[in-house]
Amino acid sequence: MGRERTLAIIKPDAVKQRAMGPILQRYEEEGFRIVEMKLARLTKAEAETFYAVHRARPFFQSLISFMISGPVVVVLLEGERAVERHRTLMGATDPAKAAEGTLRKRYGKSIEENAVHGSDSEATAKDEIAFFFGAAAVSP
Ligand code: CMP
Repeated sequence: MGRERTLAIIKPDAVKQRAMGPILQRYEEEGFRIVEMKLARLTKAEAETFYAVHRARPFFQSLISFMISGPVVVVLLEGERAVERHRTLMGATDPAKAAEGTLRKRYGKSIEENAVHGSDSEATAKDEIAFFFGAAAVSP
């Protein structure tokens, strides 16, 4: 496998509860390298494009409203098996089902306001990294 990159988003609920510092610290403690990072307010169009795969889901409009409700931190992480390791660190989508010690268990409030996003596969990571940081940022 080797070194790879993944895309993380610290969501508006986590930024509002002043958890961006602890979450970034956790990434460093877990051995990820933060390659790029930006504080941003997503536009509606950006959020809709980013989450286009969920367009037909009943929660789509609510998800978009939530994601544009305040600033987010978009983070490009690099490390060994970064996609899988970041998914493990986040925990299950629903914080109520997430394992102890995971970011969503610690900071998530609901299945929607779940504190962090992470790419769900290497292919998705490439698309998501290119979307926010350009095609040149995709590979280590
Ligand atoms: P994320 O990993 O960013 O990918 C899609 C997001 O949609 C997810 O985290 C949640 O924020 C949200 N989501 C997923 N399932 C549901 C659901 N059943 N109800 C509301 N929001 C959801």
